[in-house]
Amino acid sequence: MDEIKMRVAGIEKSFPGVKALSNIDFSVRKGTVHALCGENGAGKSTLMKIIMGLYKADKGQIFIDEKPVDIRNPIQAREKGISMIAQELNYVPELSVEENLFLGRLPVNKFGKVNWKQVRKEAQQFLREEGLPYSPTQKLKTLTVSDIQMLEIIKAVTNNAQIIIMDEPTSSITEREVQQLFKKIEELKAKGVAIIYISHKMEEVFKIADDITVLRDGSVVSTDRAADLDLDTVISRMVGRKISNVYPKEEVTIGEKAIEVEHYSQKGVFEDVSFYARKGEIVGFAGLVGAGRTETMRAVFGLDPHESGNVKIDGQEVNIKSVADSIHKGLIMLSESRRDDGIVPVRSVQENASLASLERYIYGGYTHKKKEQTEVLEMFQKMNVKTPSMETEISKLSGGNQQKVLLARWMLCNPEIMILDEPTRGIDVGAKFEIYKLITEIVKENKAVIMVSSELPELLGMCDRIYIMCQGKISGCIDKSEFSQETIMMYATGLRNQQ
Ligand SMILES: Nc1ncnc2c1ncn2[C@@H]1O[C@H](COP(=O)(O)OP(=O)(O)OP(=O)(O)O)[C@@H](O)[C@H]1O
Ligand SMILES: [Mg+2]
Repeated sequence: MDEIKMRVAGIEKSFPGVKALSNIDFSVRKGTVHALCGENGAGKSTLMKIIMGLYKADKGQIFIDEKPVDIRNPIQAREKGISMIAQELNYVPELSVEENLFLGRLPVNKFGKVNWKQVRKEAQQFLREEGLPYSPTQKLKTLTVSDIQMLEIIKAVTNNAQIIIMDEPTSSITEREVQQLFKKIEELKAKGVAIIYISHKMEEVFKIADDITVLRDGSVVSTDRAADLDLDTVISRMVGRKISNVYPKEEVTIGEKAIEVEHYSQKGVFEDVSFYARKGEIVGFAGLVGAGRTETMRAVFGLDPHESGNVKIDGQEVNIKSVADSIHKGLIMLSESRRDDGIVPVRSVQENASLASLERYIYGGYTHKKKEQTEVLEMFQKMNVKTPSMETEISKLSGGNQQKVLLARWMLCNPEIMILDEPTRGIDVGAKFEIYKLITEIVKENKAVIMVSSELPELLGMCDRIYIMCQGKISGCIDKSEFSQETIMMYATGLRNQQ
């Protein structure tokens, strides 16, 4: 079946200071998954936003079923059968699950009155069918990032779309949910739906894609059948060079305990959690999404409360009541939900990067702007942050580049202990490697790194020791010599327990 469902021709798009897309030709076959690969800032989301009518192209034409179409906004896109699961989930926290599911397409009678009974009934049915345990009236703010991502997926599917764009749909969902999504994708394909799939997880791409297009610096490098490609070829086309796929972990002498958390509990969230990280050590936290890893770390860092337990830093008991206390004690955390506790949207990339380390640039009564700028710039170069200028508003950067800026913010604090919650989420393969190298450099300076990650290969490749959490408790801790994906999964699913 080689019927073209959608085609774009000659698309161009510039933003102030950046040519985001030039002369893009791209077509998606009916009933197939077309993966779009490219580094952070390559132009993937921009192209998708043009298709959705969120941005206007400077030039070019979109065709659906070989007929030229004009899409000026997402409502028109939906009318033409296009749905998108956006990379930056933009939801209104106060909306309920059902309101969100029916956003923009609430059933109304001829007097314009919403039929809430029908909404409730259909919402309940969707939730039941998908096996999601939320109530239709629950506010979105009570859900986790992964819950909301799942809801977005259902929303797109239930819209009866003929073309579904998925921009990093699996960045925050569990392995089991990924399997569910893939099953759903197969069903959609069988119905003739065309899917555009964007992901930095290359294994996923190769598992699910029929066709692969590589974008680099706003241009199409190639489009091929996935079966004719291999991983190394795609990666080298993306980054324009060959990169080694190994982890740059080095042997570091391990010292005293830098941080020790004892019997941390918060009822219903995490229970009796004890762990430590030593100087020079990279300690991983594995577990299924919802196991309580993020919640525990947030409490340790002082973002969320805890009922009992204590923390020692360098053997001294410390009383952490707020994030300010933590930073003062040399403990920082890169939070998983960058949107909620990370980015200051209207501020520049420079300001976002130096926010937490400003103190370091104030001495002798002066702010040493020059030093601040130089250090931020150096860090950006190391991480390959792509931004038109240091004054650009952070919200204008691509998703992955925003994350790099946040990571840079914490790296610049020069902390003794770093908690990194999903540090490479949404980050392209080339930059991932740079971030691993930075982490390696950090521990060489006798610092401790705690890495929470849902990507097992990353934990196995980078850590000295891994704790596994299951249902709010630590179910196991294993040393490098015992590392294996199977062992971790046994502890993560509760099949095995050391306690
Ligand atoms: N609203 C905007 N204003 C100005 N520049 C923008 C805007 N949106 C995107 N850009 C720029 O366009 C380029 C492409 O960004 P885009 O978000 O499409 O990248 P991407 O391929 O989706 O990357 P990622 O993998 O990080 O999500 C980047 O240089 C980005 O800074
Ligand atoms: Mg993007």
